[in-house]
Amino acid sequence: MLNLKPMFLATCAAITLISGTSYAGACDVNVEATATMAFNVKEIKVPKKCKEITLKLTNTGTMPKAIMGHNVVISKTADMEAVNKNGLTAGLANNYVKKNDTKVIGHTAVIGGGESTTAKIKLTNLKTSESYSFFCSFPGHSAIMKGVFKLI
Ligand code: CO
Repeated sequence: MLNLKPMFLATCAAITLISGTSYAGACDVNVEATATMAFNVKEIKVPKKCKEITLKLTNTGTMPKAIMGHNVVISKTADMEAVNKNGLTAGLANNYVKKNDTKVIGHTAVIGGGESTTAKIKLTNLKTSESYSFFCSFPGHSAIMKGVFKLI
């Protein structure tokens, strides 16, 4: 019995390592929104095998969300303008995203400085041939706070 215990522990450690570094890690996306109204990345690349991503947004600024809030919205690049317009009407109470907007692939909540939020976003209907973007739909931000969202 005494000999089995270290072996059991070693097996558990190996399983944790494998599951933590392969599939799950590749489908996790971390984005920072900074105090200078910018994202820390210009491009998000996700393996096309990911049926879903776990998108974590951290706002490293200090201002409250009503003044300098940020979110991450993903849509076709061609739909960005329409999604932004709908978001403006939806307002902060709806995270500047119209409820059930079919043009929105996924989005996080709007968060203020020092906060972070996570959203699970399904990618099952995305095509590698289509052009997608991520952006912040807080009014006026998407001109600067945007980038390419790519399946690879
Ligand atoms: Co923003």
